[in-house]
Amino acid sequence: MTSQEIRKKYLEFFKERGHTVIPRALLVPQNDPTTLFTGSGMQPLIPYLLGQEHPEGKRLVDSQTCLRAQDIDEVGDNRHTTFFEMLGNWSLGDYFKREQLNWFWQFLIEEIKLDPSRIYVSCFIGNEDAGIPKDSESATVWSEIFAAAGLDHEQIDIGTNENGAKIGGGEHRISFYGDKNWWCRAGKASDMPDGEPGGPDSEVFYLFPEVKHNPEYGEKCHVNCDCGRYIELGNSVFMEYVKTDTGFSKLPKRNVDYGGGLERISAAAMDSPDVYKISLLWPIISKLEVLSGKNYDSYTNAMRVVADHLRGATFLAIDGVVPSNKEQGYVMRRLIRRAIRFAFDLGIEQNFLEEVTKVIVGLYQEDFPELSGKKDQVIAVLVREEKLFRHTLKKGLAEFEKMYPQSQEKKPMSVLDGAAIFKLHDTYGFPSELVIEEAYKRGVEVSPDWRPQFDSKMEEQRSRSRTATKGEFKGGLADHSEINTKYHTATHLMYKALRIVLGDHVIQRGSNITAERLRFDFSHTDKMTPEQIKSVEDIVNEQIGKDWPMSWREEDTREALASGVVGAFGDRYGERVKVYTVGDPDGEYFSREICGGPHVEHTGQLAEGGKKFKILKEESSSAGVRRIKAVLI
Ligand code: ALA
Repeated sequence: MTSQEIRKKYLEFFKERGHTVIPRALLVPQNDPTTLFTGSGMQPLIPYLLGQEHPEGKRLVDSQTCLRAQDIDEVGDNRHTTFFEMLGNWSLGDYFKREQLNWFWQFLIEEIKLDPSRIYVSCFIGNEDAGIPKDSESATVWSEIFAAAGLDHEQIDIGTNENGAKIGGGEHRISFYGDKNWWCRAGKASDMPDGEPGGPDSEVFYLFPEVKHNPEYGEKCHVNCDCGRYIELGNSVFMEYVKTDTGFSKLPKRNVDYGGGLERISAAAMDSPDVYKISLLWPIISKLEVLSGKNYDSYTNAMRVVADHLRGATFLAIDGVVPSNKEQGYVMRRLIRRAIRFAFDLGIEQNFLEEVTKVIVGLYQEDFPELSGKKDQVIAVLVREEKLFRHTLKKGLAEFEKMYPQSQEKKPMSVLDGAAIFKLHDTYGFPSELVIEEAYKRGVEVSPDWRPQFDSKMEEQRSRSRTATKGEFKGGLADHSEINTKYHTATHLMYKALRIVLGDHVIQRGSNITAERLRFDFSHTDKMTPEQIKSVEDIVNEQIGKDWPMSWREEDTREALASGVVGAFGDRYGERVKVYTVGDPDGEYFSREICGGPHVEHTGQLAEGGKKFKILKEESSSAGVRRIKAVLI
């Protein structure tokens, strides 16, 4: 049974039981500033769990796309993914424990055909301090279900994971835990803010007998052990409490919030402890096998990371996120960059995101109508980030290799400290977390104090920049604020446009940028005509619209100038210079210019908020020098 079929079956199963199918919410929560991503199916339904009437009634079902960025480092094992689909059904003050547990059992056994003897469950042990009793009601329902199936149903009180590792508990059908069986958005009952709903829950696990317990995860195995022998398939939350300033009180209505991982249920249906074997992930792995010429069995971890991260990034693109250095965009950037980094381990050094993204979109387009017509746009977003990063990464890795050669393995190694990580970050744009990963891979010891060392270098650099603004080239180069950065890039575009419209005699004579405008002085004798001004504006706006990537590299000064790179200060440069390219420095580009930066990452950012480039003023500055003031408005 494919995952696609399981998704359909689930929705159908609950529809037959009076539920209305509701559409998924976007990965970026619309009215919930408490979290970056939708990480469970219940998040968008909070107001209804608190008592508000849902327009679609009291019984709802859906498949919610989720992203759990906090799981990023766990990706690589057999079951964690950052992106996943959570099958969800809800009772908003309607049915409760008995129906829910029986239905879920029925779905797993009758529809998905799982082996009943491999199913184990957990229930809430109770919290005396908070006045919340042990959930014997759920345990009784489970006992009846197991008995009817001819299965044993012993119970065991475990409490915490630490205790579970000590006493074990796997052979018991019903295990009781504390925090593990309390569900709320905050994680733990003790961390819940006032007004937050939560409740005891009952989880269902599937046993993979061929996975032997690994004592690295604790002496003995139990259902919540991390060794992978038991895999959680779903969780029925009996949401009937709300946190108050003195403890807990009951919500106006008792709710059920069920969530189950489509990926994991699919893996269980295939009798595979490896979720990457399912029909929504395996085609991505297959593609990676083809692209790399490597085998999944030998490159399991790297292929899992690449497949997971690109699937997550693709869905972020579908939901309108673009890579950036902030919030959701940052997580997306991290996913893409990490995928590219791991693909290097597979020997994939060429651009490959376009091909993989096509496969991913293909897996979902039939069942997610919102994808139609978005394919090219989604691919473009990923490909743009790939281009940008590939450039950065090659430089960073080469530099790392110089600092810590692979062959150094047997020699005593120096410790990688925050200063070295800063250098790689600052000079080569190599992200600090990738530096750390690279270090671990090579067995290079990382200073435990690298973070504060790195931060203090960062602060030093900031104050240096502040000092520099008072110095000779008072061009605002040191102010990295977003709008200034945009004006820097706009200046490059305009410089080139002026040369196109007026001629190659145009040379930069000065530049000054504030958050309000750019000012640019250049060699030219005559007043510009309104037509010329209009042409320059049109060219700049057209190039913004082309959304060129921006990147820089160090080049030999003479060679750069000879190849037509423009600069402001003629022969006053050193032997090597930093050259910024709007476009591809080795392919098609719009302009190449000597500059210290900083710049935006792609020119489309200048149009954010519907802005356009506009020249406000063109006037004489001194003999043979004109001055332009322009804005993005
Ligand atoms: N909200 C519950 C969970 O995410 C179902 O596990």
